Amino acid sequence: MIKKIDNYFVIETNNTTYCFMVSETGHLFHLYYGKKISEKEIFELKWNTKQTGNTVYYSKDFPYSFEDIKMEFGFPGKGDIRESLIEVTNSDGSFTVDFKYDHYEILDYKKELEGLPSSYDGNNELVIYLRDYKHNYLLELNYSIFDEDDVITKSVKFINESTNTIKLNKLLSNSIDFDENFTVTSFVGNWANEMNKVTTKVSGGKYVIESTIGSSSSRANSFFMLSKDDTLENSGKCLGFNLVYSGNHYGSISTTALNTTRVVQGINPYMFEFEIEPNESFVAPEAIVCYSEDGFNGLSKRLHGFINNHIVNKNYAGKDRPVLLNSWEANYFDISEDKLVQLAKKAKEVGIEMLVMDDGWFGNRNDDTSSLGDWYVNKDKLPNGLEGLANKIHDIGLKFGIWVEMEMVSVDSEFYRNHPDWVMSIDEDTHSEGRNQRILDLCNPMVRKYIYDSLDNMLGSGLIDYVKWDYNRIFSDVYSPTLKTRQKETFHRYILGLYRIMKKVTSKYPNVLFEGCGAGGNRFDLGILSYFPQIWGSDNTDAITRFDIQNNYSYGYPLSCFTNHVSAVPNHQTGRTTNLTTRFNVASFGNLGYELDLIKVSGQELEEIRKQVELYKQHRHFFQYGTFEREVDDKYYYWKLKDGNIQRSCRFVKKIFENR
Ligand code: DGJ
Repeated sequence: MIKKIDNYFVIETNNTTYCFMVSETGHLFHLYYGKKISEKEIFELKWNTKQTGNTVYYSKDFPYSFEDIKMEFGFPGKGDIRESLIEVTNSDGSFTVDFKYDHYEILDYKKELEGLPSSYDGNNELVIYLRDYKHNYLLELNYSIFDEDDVITKSVKFINESTNTIKLNKLLSNSIDFDENFTVTSFVGNWANEMNKVTTKVSGGKYVIESTIGSSSSRANSFFMLSKDDTLENSGKCLGFNLVYSGNHYGSISTTALNTTRVVQGINPYMFEFEIEPNESFVAPEAIVCYSEDGFNGLSKRLHGFINNHIVNKNYAGKDRPVLLNSWEANYFDISEDKLVQLAKKAKEVGIEMLVMDDGWFGNRNDDTSSLGDWYVNKDKLPNGLEGLANKIHDIGLKFGIWVEMEMVSVDSEFYRNHPDWVMSIDEDTHSEGRNQRILDLCNPMVRKYIYDSLDNMLGSGLIDYVKWDYNRIFSDVYSPTLKTRQKETFHRYILGLYRIMKKVTSKYPNVLFEGCGAGGNRFDLGILSYFPQIWGSDNTDAITRFDIQNNYSYGYPLSCFTNHVSAVPNHQTGRTTNLTTRFNVASFGNLGYELDLIKVSGQELEEIRKQVELYKQHRHFFQYGTFEREVDDKYYYWKLKDGNIQRSCRFVKKIFENR
């Protein structure tokens, strides 16, 4: 519920209250975010408890410094010296701004964000309009509420109503000021080593969680949590933060000597500068905040519900996902129609429902040095084309999926030879290569059209049931030929271009199941999930390492969002041998797949796999959407799933993880 009481704005979910007020100077002062409180308690909240700063706003009538006040929208230049949400280079080169309350609206629906994915089916929305009267800039602060999940989402729109072109150097989506300090939990990693949980008590200085690589990245996932010393899995206070965005993100937790904390999140201001002409606007992505008094499990349950019902592509929200066999670790690039048909037959025998042909089926692709961009079938490998193979797989009784990497081209490709100017690069010869491939300039409408048309060409036959959309390098030599002198718009415009393609293709093919992938978890975020309902979270398929990776994704993301594969032993990434039961136990918490050469698997193991798949299919919805909990004691980690009367609990010996 959203209420305006005098100069107070109160936002309530089932168990939380968020409130701020319009001050006598016309600014927004934040008052409170936490467990639900009464109206009486709200009016007892204080905005001016501690006074240390000496730069006061209108000293005669208002002898307070913004440095000491919990600001709802922090801006630079008028005394608030903490992290600001906005930075503008005004037409005279100055950067001071002063945003004051103008008016508000309460909507009984939730608006969509222009050009960006966002949550849907919110209860209602509060829009606060702030104006910088001197420069004539307008800001729209949007607050949406999701009662049952105790989630509030926030987004910001900047509108240049002046007659000058200005530069926007920073526009974050959310900030919240607190009168206390917290422990921060963030998730860092790299290839095949995603989502390492790190906890840091921030009681002095600033802690930053960010990506600068062009995608949301495995280096630091955009999800993070705040908690107190006594917060445990099932008790205590904690807060979760995330962003519906797939590009460079930024979150910071900064503290003062008075033990106050400011948390901010949004697009990373790193290499970011947007020219905004008169009457143009800029929309910052949607930030998610969630509060729980029931420990980390309480937070995860709320976020799982929110993501399953309000973020994940609606066509797939709540829908069961198939058990698949992926050809990558079975055959890598060495695939052929015959091998895939044999694999599919074995898969059918054990009850698997879909065969996914991974990399290697197009152009002259026999390793990772060539052919991205040449999206035509390699006739030596697939003499009957995609359609011929798809028909054979369907005749066996399986669905059929393919791998693509549409945002990239290999330098050794016909495509690159024809369109060297369609990639992002500064100098062809000195380019810092990544997996022998370059990133296409998605800011260019012709490039977007080419990507969409290529996909349309593949999917138009109606024979492809699933697409794994990979993305295997990070940005370097960033230069969009399309944007000319406005290069600091490239990172964000790339993502806007990507979203346009994803929206168009998923709308045209609502029944195709798309799975996101960024060499594993290098682009695991809520923006991707808004279009592609599931993501391959890591190239590391070793059950022991994978336990950690999945465990840590589960803090902020529901099981239905990640896919897990049972693979061969010794494991291809770690060399470890784990028994088949453990491999299944780990992989079954979420969307189950297999990724091994079933032709080489012994009869006894095939029988075990058949039983695993049978069990999984019997309780599929439970495995993908059951209520998940983590627990831990001296000896074991536990994963628990519950749904009505059905329960499943697996315990994992702690020592194995500590010594790995
Ligand atoms: C990286 C992915 O994460 C793998 O699963 C596989 O699809 C390879 N790319 C193929 O090149």
